[in-house]
Amino acid sequence: MEAGSAGPENASLGGEIVGRINQLAAISETSADLTRTFLTREHRAAAELILAWMRSAGMAAHLDAIGNVCGRYEGDRPNLPCLMLGSHYDTVRDAGKWDGPLGLITAISCVGDLARRGRRLPFAIEVTGFADEEGVRFASTLLGSRAVAGTFEESVLGTKDRAGIPMREALIEFGLDPDHIGAAARTRRQLHAYIELHIEQGPVLEAQNLPVGVVTAIAGATRLAARLTGMAGHAGTVPMRLRQDALAGAAECIGAIEEFCRTDDSDLVGTVGYIHAMPGATNVIPGQVSFTIDVRAPTDAHRKRAVADIVRRIENIAKRRGLSLQLDVTHENRTVPCAPWLKQQVAEAISGEGFPVFELPSGAGHDGMAMIDIADVGMVFVRCRGGISHHPDEHVEFADADAGARVLLRLIENFRPRDEAQSNSG
Ligand code: GLV
Ligand code: MN
Ligand code: MN
Repeated sequence: MEAGSAGPENASLGGEIVGRINQLAAISETSADLTRTFLTREHRAAAELILAWMRSAGMAAHLDAIGNVCGRYEGDRPNLPCLMLGSHYDTVRDAGKWDGPLGLITAISCVGDLARRGRRLPFAIEVTGFADEEGVRFASTLLGSRAVAGTFEESVLGTKDRAGIPMREALIEFGLDPDHIGAAARTRRQLHAYIELHIEQGPVLEAQNLPVGVVTAIAGATRLAARLTGMAGHAGTVPMRLRQDALAGAAECIGAIEEFCRTDDSDLVGTVGYIHAMPGATNVIPGQVSFTIDVRAPTDAHRKRAVADIVRRIENIAKRRGLSLQLDVTHENRTVPCAPWLKQQVAEAISGEGFPVFELPSGAGHDGMAMIDIADVGMVFVRCRGGISHHPDEHVEFADADAGARVLLRLIENFRPRDEAQSNSG
């Protein structure tokens, strides 16, 4: 077959996908940018739209107990185990429109293509749109996929958003029952595998001049919430040497985190992405400051050592400045390797579409980090312009969205469950 060609049926999937990406991006909590977080009115509106797309693609579709959208396309017999595809449809603040939605929308378009051709496979296909992967509204992340994996922790129901609304209340307000989140859980026997297509969110594929790549592993991450408490006071009267300025202390901590990660000789990354100073007035010394820390490294051992070092440095700064410190780990995920048998099938689909096979790890987190508890995980990356992500300039070229769809469709149509794949290769 000619390189990159895939037959007339799916030649136009890119057009449908890009159109839907733009439609979904119009659903935002803010008019000036794209922000769509967990359990908001916009979450609800996005869910309704995606459910309609799923139904028009021939799937039975429903909203589950945590607010995930779930579509199912039966196989050639009812009740077969499924190949689960998906990604998330929540966003960061001031987001790009591709992170999450590309994988979800592409999966729906692929199923729609099968349905139009009346093609049924010897397994079911399920497409899940996860309600919260980014963890923006509440401190915890991967809430949608953890519920599906049966690892949702009840203790997070008490966490509050910035407006002081507990997750439990937000779920009730949304129309969900916080005491029945367990109903969203699936079992290993119901799933052959979980495969996600996602934008790379980095510059590697672009540098290689490739539209798609095979993901080898999803890097682990640790997130912490820090609170420094000093003494608020009058900005004009308290001499500098008598101050317990929590914000000046936080600034020193942030500088120390950056310095520590920058001078590490491997790919350690550390980010303070949110800071809040109290009481927050020009003429008041800040008495309390909260900030977040996100640490990632190529190996779990390296990340854990780095987190311990960062914590020690922050403790020393707080002590020297007479500030009290509260530090909580709000999220911790180990590195998740993609299953070799799935990497093999992703690679075959990529080469089947006429593209060179290139492997790369994911520095960003994905729902596979939770799904690994009930399924083997595979991922396909699609090139994004300039490696820009978590930013409104995030962009995927039409041709790359289309290439991703062709690869995913080929992967689905040629998918072999693990036992079959391994007996053929052995
Ligand atoms: C999600 O995008 C993450 O990597 O934090
Ligand atoms: Mn993201
Ligand atoms: Mn994402």
